[in-house]
Amino acid sequence: MSQAKNKMWDGRFEEGTSALMDEFNSSLNTDKAFIVEDVLGSKAWSSALEKQGVLTSEERESIHRGLDSILEKYFAGTLEFLPSDEDIHMAVERLLGLEIGDAAAKLHTGRSRNDQVATDFHLFVKNRLGEAAASLRELQKALLFRAETDRDIIVPGYTHYQQAQPVSLAHYWLSFFYLLERDYARITNAAKNADIMPLGSGAIAGSGFAVDRELLRTALGFSAITDNSIDGVAARDFVLESLNALAATGLSMSRYAEDLIVWSTREFGYVTLSDAWSTGSSMMPQKKNPDSLELIRGKSGRLVGNYSRFATTLKGVGLSYFKDLQEDKEPFIDSVNQVKLIMAVFTEVLKTLKINKDRIAAALDPFLLATDLADYLVRKGMPFRNSHHVIGSIVGHCDKNGIALNKMSTADLKGFSELFDEDVQSLFDWNTALNGRDIPGGTGPTSVANQIAKAKAILG
Ligand code: ARG
Repeated sequence: MSQAKNKMWDGRFEEGTSALMDEFNSSLNTDKAFIVEDVLGSKAWSSALEKQGVLTSEERESIHRGLDSILEKYFAGTLEFLPSDEDIHMAVERLLGLEIGDAAAKLHTGRSRNDQVATDFHLFVKNRLGEAAASLRELQKALLFRAETDRDIIVPGYTHYQQAQPVSLAHYWLSFFYLLERDYARITNAAKNADIMPLGSGAIAGSGFAVDRELLRTALGFSAITDNSIDGVAARDFVLESLNALAATGLSMSRYAEDLIVWSTREFGYVTLSDAWSTGSSMMPQKKNPDSLELIRGKSGRLVGNYSRFATTLKGVGLSYFKDLQEDKEPFIDSVNQVKLIMAVFTEVLKTLKINKDRIAAALDPFLLATDLADYLVRKGMPFRNSHHVIGSIVGHCDKNGIALNKMSTADLKGFSELFDEDVQSLFDWNTALNGRDIPGGTGPTSVANQIAKAKAILG
């Protein structure tokens, strides 16, 4: 059933659209999010039109006043949208008519919603990614705080969740810091690629009014203008790239959340989450669950989903604009909001995390030093493959007889290789093990100090 005609574009139509079509077509609930960018774009556009002699200065002033008033009402919660408002652009134009009358009808001269929405969204994506990057920096600060606080704590380093080699806890936190540094680069790079202005592209072929695009660019604070109007209205790779950077960040967060979830179990007990970032069970009174971290891990799926959701949409869309492209907004807004939340939560979890030094110390198994023993024999002249084998037999012997590796006497060790000497006993010390790995990037104290210094320099 179609309704009465009520659209700004319905001159060539005989009947109105169906109410269901209106609902299906409407993106207003999503694109309301960038009403500020839409108003900024329209203010700049009307100034450009004035320069072209399309608008008088009174008309331009009245448009600016009307747009400001729309924003004010929006933030006061008194702006009245209609179900027939197709999107934020049509809504603002309609509302402008109510604010200022006839002059509003001139605003859309030489402009299309195709270059309008592309411009709004470039601006929006650039700004929101800037916020996401700033929230990531806060998490890096918390990691630096942890690294400095936990500098003297030695933990088992794991591969395959099997104890591998001892590392300083600071070294572990800094691994997270430097991963985030790459996520930061991906996000800021995506923001840089969004920083380009399509306005003036018109529907596809370029505006029929020779507006000064350079002036528009400076007014809107973009770094560059698009070189090709077809590309200007059609390109959404900037959205895809942003979704990708946000999804990658989500995956980084998920992996560290996973570790801390394991570390917070009774079996590990390395860390205790503060009550503020945990929840209880509705049935089991003893439970304290690391839900904050589980949600961070879980939301990584949502972020990857948002990327693949829009990539799938974009794949089949030819040139230039098709309505499919409207589907870029929801995934981006969701992803960027979720990443900001995830960052804020993980930051607080880290700041309030209790480290249980005794539990960690008790968990350090002397087998963690097996590689150091193998290296010892290498220094005494044995080829590494052979020393690996010798230490393997010692580990097997200890395992079978329930002997801790550091309880092997020099005489016991000599039974496996003549190359062992009294000095081997000095290896059974966690700090010796760390000091022995003081190459750049290693877990030794100079390396960790350098990592901290570099991290501080990055954060400024
Ligand atoms: N709401 C639309 C979007 O988000 C705006 C552009 C509409 N353009 C058009 N030719 N129908 O993509």
